[in-house]
Amino acid sequence: MAIELTRVDEFALITLNRPEALNALSFSLIRDLGRALDEVAAGEARGLIITGAGVKAFCAGADIKELTGRSMMPQRAGAELGQATFAKLDRLPVPSVAVINGYAFGGGLELALACTFRIATRNAKMGLPEIKLGLIPGYGGTQRLPRLVGEARALEMIMTGRTVDAEEAHRIGLVNRMVDGDPVAQGVAFARGFAEYSRPVLALARDAATRALDVPLTEGLKVEADLSTLAFQTKDAAEGMAAFIDKRKPKFRDE
Ligand code: CAA
Repeated sequence: MAIELTRVDEFALITLNRPEALNALSFSLIRDLGRALDEVAAGEARGLIITGAGVKAFCAGADIKELTGRSMMPQRAGAELGQATFAKLDRLPVPSVAVINGYAFGGGLELALACTFRIATRNAKMGLPEIKLGLIPGYGGTQRLPRLVGEARALEMIMTGRTVDAEEAHRIGLVNRMVDGDPVAQGVAFARGFAEYSRPVLALARDAATRALDVPLTEGLKVEADLSTLAFQTKDAAEGMAAFIDKRKPKFRDE
């Protein structure tokens, strides 16, 4: 299978498993990824970690060999499939962490951009090289990258196709952290930073921050007022505040 869905401790782990093609995103791999994301959404995992098989690549992007010679309507359907699949990451009930363990180009970087967090091994190289193929990104890169690193840096990456290394990616906020050692262990260590908190409240926090970027500030503040009020209504909020007052560790139950 080009997509492997396994479990590491309390986390789901998706491995892109096509190392012979640097884990490039064939359409069948994208469909399998969509099914795996549905399974994660329906399951009990406290977070999702995504990484690439092998030592060379997270994912080298859309499968260029499949893209050539496609007419306009199938190409449009392909972009919609990729976008819809990656959008599942935005709606996942748990946070996701892309562990970029090598090349993340084109659709590969776009997949990482759709995750809640990104961490990168020191050998990681990232870019949107579509322009070199006479293309532009089609799986969300033109929209998510400027939101993350700002318009000027995003336009430079999109319009020059320039590759950034892990250090620069960290500096410009493209990745949260640079890591050494086993990528999965590093992904798990990162995910431990949020795993103990309430799942529904984590989802509200993510929605408030990401939805706010889609609307003017006044609307975003309304979204925040609504979602923070919703968080306040959860049993986990009652437990968290009671635990503070009792000077004990809270026990969240995802309610
Ligand atoms: N699609 C299909 N096959 C790919 C691939 C891709 N995106 N990237 C690598 N491969 C294949 C190669 O064809 C090669 O297969 P063969 O051995 O059968 O020839 C194998 O993976 C190993 O690749 P290389 O020999 O090229 O490895 P390298 O170490 O010399 O170079 C690389 C690595 C710099 C990542 C190079 O493979 C490369 O530039 N790949 C393409 C990157 C790219 O342009 N990605 C954007 C794709 S378009 C896109 O993603 C559109 C979108 O927005 C959705």
